[in-house]
Amino acid sequence: MQTKLYIGTNTKMYKTTRQTIAFLDELGRLTQDIDRECLELFVIPSYTTLEASSRSAYVSSITLGAQNMSWEDEGQFTGEVSPLMLEEVGVRVICIGHSERRHIFGEDDEVENKKVLAALRHNFTPLLCVGETDGQKAFGIENEVLRAQLKIGLWGTAPEQAGNIWIAYEPVWAIGVGGIPADVSYANEKHTVIRETLEEIYGKETGAKIPILYGGSVNNINAHELVQTPNIDGLFIGRSAWDAKNFSMIIHDLMNMQPYLLATKKK
Ligand code: 13P
Repeated sequence: MQTKLYIGTNTKMYKTTRQTIAFLDELGRLTQDIDRECLELFVIPSYTTLEASSRSAYVSSITLGAQNMSWEDEGQFTGEVSPLMLEEVGVRVICIGHSERRHIFGEDDEVENKKVLAALRHNFTPLLCVGETDGQKAFGIENEVLRAQLKIGLWGTAPEQAGNIWIAYEPVWAIGVGGIPADVSYANEKHTVIRETLEEIYGKETGAKIPILYGGSVNNINAHELVQTPNIDGLFIGRSAWDAKNFSMIIHDLMNMQPYLLATKKK
């Protein structure tokens, strides 16, 4: 288990700049009692909000991420956003291979790998998302799928870079409207497969330190139980996090558990 809890949200294609700033300000204010030594709180809003978001008063306590990134620094790639452009707006995390990128926009593991390598080259933290579809689950090949996504997605990365890598396990069938949250024992089982694969890639000690977050229909009720399992180091939340009050409620609830209990500064 990590000494820090990783909790973040991806606002997908919701929230304009004005809405994002209001969200960050409210979330920052509501969580300022929590010691950031124990909490890594991150928000991944849309590209157009990033520059204004980086000027938010709370940006030192909320890590900003981008939802995607080109693997090229520049070139004839209409519609793409380069790592150099993201460096300029103070982003630290790059979400790579989100299920919506893979399944709506057709990105594959080799593309995700190029993005992971580019993110590391630019000293960003790649948040590589992996997860099986319901079809793959029905065939019982989810462990093979996860292993392939990790082995290809992280191909060519060195153990010295692993300290900068985060993984999110987001089963495709659990994500978004109509998604069914994975039950806790299933999620823990898949996180164990991911942990073992990371240990195989980077060695036991290094692989054990990489945070693995769960995402997919996390809510006020299941968050607690998910985080208590040994291989779940944090949560990557969509809908339940988009209201700052509710998100803060989930976070505070988790920070009241061992071993994070002391994280809330006594007023
Ligand atoms: P939901 O929590 O809305 O299912 O979304 C999860 C997600 O896609 C996080 O990236």
